[in-house]
Amino acid sequence: MQNSVLNDKVALVTGGARRIGAEIATRLHAEGMRLVLHYHSSDAEARALQDLLNDKRSDSVVLIKGDLLDNHKITHLAQQSIKMFTRLDAIVNNASTFFPTPVGDTSEEDWNNLFGTNLKAPFFLAQATAAELKKNRGVIVNIADIYGVRPLKNHAVYSTAKAGLIMLTRALARELAPEVRVNAVAPGAILWPDHDHDEVAQQRLISRTPLKRMGTPREIADTVLFLIRDAGFTSGHVIPVDGGRSTVP
Ligand SMILES: NC(=O)c1ccc[n+]([C@@H]2O[C@H](COP(=O)([O-])OP(=O)(O)OC[C@H]3O[C@@H](n4cnc5c(N)ncnc54)[C@H](OP(=O)(O)O)[C@@H]3O)[C@@H](O)[C@H]2O)c1
Repeated sequence: MQNSVLNDKVALVTGGARRIGAEIATRLHAEGMRLVLHYHSSDAEARALQDLLNDKRSDSVVLIKGDLLDNHKITHLAQQSIKMFTRLDAIVNNASTFFPTPVGDTSEEDWNNLFGTNLKAPFFLAQATAAELKKNRGVIVNIADIYGVRPLKNHAVYSTAKAGLIMLTRALARELAPEVRVNAVAPGAILWPDHDHDEVAQQRLISRTPLKRMGTPREIADTVLFLIRDAGFTSGHVIPVDGGRSTVP
């Protein structure tokens, strides 16, 4: 039996089936939280994680599938998330798309995709759950990026969307206070994208990171847990988890 302040509280983790989202979900679940695990296309991974966690505590994880580029699905996700366990205490906006958008070769669809997952969905999820989160003195944690503060070359649209997410964090912290705290985590290099095999560029990035290594999904999950469980007087802030990368040019 666990003895945690988070016992039986309910967190929605978007894009929670794999990679960093799965680690965040697993960490929050280990602290006693029940989970609404959102995913889009990773059916098998989502089911496997649900089974694994439900084996630890039965009926503690439900799945909701949905495309966050579709505003109807966002409303549905918000309503179902509250309905599943009849309460909602925390949202972790982790789902994201990430791809280059060179100037001269970027479509409106690219823009809508990157802004849709990284910025629009977190706003509309917050709007649709604000009353419930206020009732429970809940928490929102947005997963931003250090590139939301300094742009990544060839990624103007992603960087701008994450910059927007950082501003949204601050704006919602103001709008939803005093009941709801809203903060963000800004990871540096944690996991390379599945399609990125440029080892030279990867090593260059690590060599420019003062701690000379990549971060781990666990280090992101620990920071999310800190913001949800321990940071009761912190709202509107962004915590870089980047091995010191933001301190060097
Ligand atoms: N990886 C890093 O080193 C790093 C660095 C800085 C910041 N971050 C941030 O940390 C978070 C997690 O990173 P990650 O690399 O683990 O993310 P990721 O693998 O790129 O994406 C996370 C999930 O987002 C979901 N997703 C994508 N498009 C969606 C859509 N249209 N509707 C609903 N869900 C959608 C996908 O779910 P399905 O698989 O189910 O389709 C995917 O598994 C992201 O916000 C990212 O920007 C990561």
